[in-house]
Amino acid sequence: MCGIVGYVGNQEAVPILIGGLAKLEYRGYDSAGVAVLQGQKIEVRRSVGKLVNLQKSLEDNALKGTVGIGHTRWATHGKPSEQNAHPHRSKGCVLVHNGIIENYQPLKQQLEKEGYKFQSETDTEVVAHLIDKYLQKGQGLADAVRAATKDVRGSYALAVISEKEPGTMIAARSGCPLVIGRTKDASFVASDVMAMLAHTRDVTYLEEGDVAVVTQHEATLTDVDGHAVVRKPAKITWDASAAEKSGYPHFMLKEIHEQPQTILDTMRGRYSYETGEADLPDIGLTPKEFAAVDRMWIVACGTSWHAGLVGKYLLEEMVRTPVQVDIGSEFRYRDPLVGKNDLFVTISQSGETADTLAAAREAKGKGAKVVSIVNVVGSTLARESDGVLYTHCGPEIGVASTKAFTAQLTALYLLALHLARVRKVMAAADGKAWLDRLVRLPSLVEQILGREAEIVVIAKRYYKKRNFLFLGRGINFPIALEGALKLKEISYIHAEGYAAGEMKHGPIALIDKDMPVVVLAPKDRLYEKTVSNLMEVKARRAPVIALVAEGELELGKTADAVFTIPETHPLLSPILFTIPLQLLAYHIAVLCGADVDQPRNLAKSVTVE
Ligand code: AGP
Repeated sequence: MCGIVGYVGNQEAVPILIGGLAKLEYRGYDSAGVAVLQGQKIEVRRSVGKLVNLQKSLEDNALKGTVGIGHTRWATHGKPSEQNAHPHRSKGCVLVHNGIIENYQPLKQQLEKEGYKFQSETDTEVVAHLIDKYLQKGQGLADAVRAATKDVRGSYALAVISEKEPGTMIAARSGCPLVIGRTKDASFVASDVMAMLAHTRDVTYLEEGDVAVVTQHEATLTDVDGHAVVRKPAKITWDASAAEKSGYPHFMLKEIHEQPQTILDTMRGRYSYETGEADLPDIGLTPKEFAAVDRMWIVACGTSWHAGLVGKYLLEEMVRTPVQVDIGSEFRYRDPLVGKNDLFVTISQSGETADTLAAAREAKGKGAKVVSIVNVVGSTLARESDGVLYTHCGPEIGVASTKAFTAQLTALYLLALHLARVRKVMAAADGKAWLDRLVRLPSLVEQILGREAEIVVIAKRYYKKRNFLFLGRGINFPIALEGALKLKEISYIHAEGYAAGEMKHGPIALIDKDMPVVVLAPKDRLYEKTVSNLMEVKARRAPVIALVAEGELELGKTADAVFTIPETHPLLSPILFTIPLQLLAYHIAVLCGADVDQPRNLAKSVTVE
């Protein structure tokens, strides 16, 4: 999730660009850069690390001009480095980009054949050379950008300037937000209104496929074919703090609502319908090495460990390979029996969790291949692994992990498909069927998020309770654990996740009318057993909150509160059952007056043992 800023006006561009980029700081980044039209030439300046490094470089060696673009990078393709920092250029064309170009590799090969030399490892640079190619054919900048965006597949928000058309900026979006601001003497472009609130509150949001021609005095919008489009301007009334969260009261709620997009982004460009296979170029092991794997391990901490537990059910069912799951802080203190033919998977949002890092090093020391599912590109765990599967969900600011968790599950679904196909335990047709179901998840998540008000009603009924139980079976047992963790870590209410079948072996003694029990009851092969577990706790007067499959309203009548989950394959149900639990924890915590984004005693990344 990168930050984009553009300016065309009568003031010096650099202070406006830097001020805008600073407002996007909450999005996190690993490098930053600006490009300014200085006379007839566009000068580019980029720095790795914090924005202050770029500011220092510009103080030491100023750039002067009233047209410019700026960028803060959250790496997806290519490690954090100056070469990979934006803006990227091709001759006199310079651009910044947010998004993922799924087909950048074939485009890059074609452009190299046509003589283009690549300076970076990014997918973005492909777009700069594509635009230049069309400019060289005599097209104007707007037409060249339109043509280039037709060649690419994936998501983009672009701000483009060219030495051939000084004073003009082209902004284009598909799949990533982009907004234009106007004043009497200037135009602004940004990925987020935050970057321009200091200058204007009169904005126009670009919509899918829009291409804007931006000059000092106007911004005209067209579609990708050049036909004029009209977009209703908006007046931003948010204060700065609310704008950072796109109008949401907390980063956590914003990130919960980002999940349809982040699940999609984690899938983008990583599968082929034609072959029914996953396409994981950075996975680090050859199909032959995957085929030789005797056993798998998954090691992680906290919410990421819950993802690992889901991975066990998923991988053992789809790949038929034994999977051992461990908590990072336990794994390496028991001299684990890791073998040379073992595949060792670690899962970590930050890629810096000390316990998980130590486990990966232990496994490598014992000869295993390490593949990591990580969100932060270039993090320690990513760099030390033999292969990496990034979750493209952008920086997760809320301490309670939400979008990273469902992105981790998405990455596991892709890994399971990859392993099942290379180990020939899944035929192409089944792979395609699996992908069909997988690509429907973002819209099903969107559907659930649209019913948030139902969760608010449940939260209002039970937020004063001091103890909760979350029950699940099979692949949703880890989701019961996750639901409990979400609630306890942001509301400070005691909550336990339990295997529903385990209740009768002790915990049922806890049940009374003051202990709400959340029961996850997907319509899978364990449904009847889950229903009897629900009846057991109901019989002991516990208030039951049942998450049931659509159509199972019978069960809903028995429960005290019910929330229906859209139908999907049982193995994919964990992502759908997670969403209402995230919302329930969030709304209960808000009703309790807790500090949702920064709960007491917790850190976003636990870099100490
Ligand atoms: C999750 O809500 C917690 N913030 C915590 O359990 C977290 O998942 C854990 O510390 C692991 O972090 P990582 O994914 O960055 O390794």
